[in-house]
Amino acid sequence: TKSAAGSAAPLFSKLPADIQKAGVIKVGTDATYAPMEFKQGEKIVGVDPDIAAALSKQLGVTFQFESGTFNTLLTSLPTGRTDIVMSSMTDTKARQEGLDEKGQKTGSGVDFVDYFTASTGILVKKGNPEGIKSLDDLCGKKLAVQRGTTYEQAAKDQAEKCKKDGKPALTFESFDSDAEAQTRVKAGGAVADLNDSPVAAYIAQTAGGGNDFEAIANKSDAGFFGIAVDKKNTQLRDALKEALDAIIKDGTYKTALDKWNAG
Ligand code: ARG
Repeated sequence: TKSAAGSAAPLFSKLPADIQKAGVIKVGTDATYAPMEFKQGEKIVGVDPDIAAALSKQLGVTFQFESGTFNTLLTSLPTGRTDIVMSSMTDTKARQEGLDEKGQKTGSGVDFVDYFTASTGILVKKGNPEGIKSLDDLCGKKLAVQRGTTYEQAAKDQAEKCKKDGKPALTFESFDSDAEAQTRVKAGGAVADLNDSPVAAYIAQTAGGGNDFEAIANKSDAGFFGIAVDKKNTQLRDALKEALDAIIKDGTYKTALDKWNAG
């Protein structure tokens, strides 16, 4: 049976009893974010599922990904609907403390197990017709961003900065998925989509056979993606951390990134 095979895994005994019993870690994700997590047919694939598969070998349980709207993923943790969120989610203080974008306490907060580094990607139309080189070049332009992300916050912050610098106003529109923000840029309804550097790079390479977009990376602002775990679930958090250390050491972490040209 699954649990017999599972219990032979090196770190199975470190997992909380309920997860050992279930043989499954339920993962919330927004699978519209290639190459990090996206759907190929019905299957959720990408960097995060491949890292999870490597973790699974250490922990002896299956990672079951379920796709939902990014903005609501963390709300499924306290109820136990999901055990973790793995969705290219940036480890931020606000999320750790359960604060929404207005700084109001709306959740119980999470702990993060950091597993990946990325910086801001600025996705523009092929040929970069507006000559965008940095966030400051976006004053006077319209952006498209995904709702509830650090990039929606970045758009707000940059809008403030444009104002303070006495430059033309930056405006932005938020979408439930980054894919919709990309479509907006392609249609000319926005000059740029702000997202994570590996996503911008991948979309620039693949969309329309590489003819639709161009990616500009803002290398200076790198941050961590973390696996989010409910604050009360410290045993699961620590087991994941140990499993992550193990897959970094044995090279299977790197294999997962190399497969998608990420990292
Ligand atoms: N890293 C950004 C954030 O945490 C965007 C993540 C979006 N992830 C996704 N699967 N759409 O806010």
